[in-house]
Amino acid sequence: MAFIAPAGTPISFGTFSAGLARGVMQPSIDARLAHALAQHSGHQRCWLMSTGRAAMVIALQAMRDAVGDPRRTEVIVPAYTCYSVPASVIRAGLQPRLCDIDPSTLSMEVQALEQFDFSRVLGIVTANLYGIPNQLDAIERIAKRAGVLMLDDAAQSLGASLGGRPVGGFGDVGLYSFDKGKNITSLEGGALIASDPKLSARIEALHSALPATPFTKTAMTIVKLGAYSLLLRPTLYDFVRQLPGLGLGKTKWEDDYPIQQYSRPLAGFTHSLYGQLQSLSKRRRDNANSLSAALRAVPGMQLIEPPVGSLPAYTRLPFLVTDASRRDAVIAKLNDAGIGATASYPSALCDVPEVARTLPQSDLTMPAAQRVANSIVTLPTHPYCPSDLPARVGQTLSSIK
Ligand SMILES: Cc1ncc(COP(=O)(O)O)c(C=O)c1O
Repeated sequence: MAFIAPAGTPISFGTFSAGLARGVMQPSIDARLAHALAQHSGHQRCWLMSTGRAAMVIALQAMRDAVGDPRRTEVIVPAYTCYSVPASVIRAGLQPRLCDIDPSTLSMEVQALEQFDFSRVLGIVTANLYGIPNQLDAIERIAKRAGVLMLDDAAQSLGASLGGRPVGGFGDVGLYSFDKGKNITSLEGGALIASDPKLSARIEALHSALPATPFTKTAMTIVKLGAYSLLLRPTLYDFVRQLPGLGLGKTKWEDDYPIQQYSRPLAGFTHSLYGQLQSLSKRRRDNANSLSAALRAVPGMQLIEPPVGSLPAYTRLPFLVTDASRRDAVIAKLNDAGIGATASYPSALCDVPEVARTLPQSDLTMPAAQRVANSIVTLPTHPYCPSDLPARVGQTLSSIK
């Protein structure tokens, strides 16, 4: 049976070989990629790193050093986001604080954020999950007014914009990821972008002290990238997803990842795919729009509303159902129909033990994030989605009693 992978980016043989050739033959390909990403974000500088997690740790350490106030140790993160975010906050020696989200947008609840006690806060981190921009203009205003820094986490949102401004370009420092489920990918990799001279000088110092990614690791990643480019196809993905030990789509807590520079050969792939960013994002957006229309016709499906003036990149299409047991039924039915629907992160961050034990009592209940964790479903939007996918999703969901 053909099975549509939950997320991913098609890499044609031409893109793969062009990426490999650029990565191996062009010594300045990493500088060219960094330049392109800085220009894209509207920031002045860009640094490439081994993962988005590594980039986040470096960003937070640089923010702490640039602010230079030992009392400012708290970092506000949305109560529903990737576990890598609080893991990086803790890894940077800082304290995560949670802000509940608005389930209709998945953005931090603006009123809750406004009411925060900012006296010990170093910065605010956004989420922009599934390529949907958060209310970045409001968050930026709040951060400025409170005198704290803002890290615009665009790990899932390269290619999205709000009010004509690229996601990742809001606030003081932005972050992109090139991990496997992202809009463009080299299976691993991350980037920071920033403009402020003091912050940039600290990022530069921390980045230049990082070790290189070992060559053997890069070689392994290139082999995996070749396999990924073949196996993401629906006709082969059904076989891949049944292989034991791959743990595809599983969310686990991980805080001992390497913090290294990005490997130049991988920059060749990302640079090749970067040239397709506009068309990839448009394709994902078109797929998400047709899927949204199909979901609107089924009672009980709640779509996430992107902010007015935004252009999402939709690395996936999220929606909410009424409760956890219905969610499990929806995912099981869609999977049986060969559609890679997933439940995304299984818990709000207040319910992740490694985060909970660091939190003050006031952050241990986040009702909206907890409801989202129990009721979210995400659908694939990548270019391997067939044109009859919306109709199939609609039929499958309508058949659930
Ligand atoms: C919102 C968000 N931030 C940060 C990261 C970390 O990126 P990476 O997987 O490249 O380490 C991720 C990864 O999925 C993410 O989704």
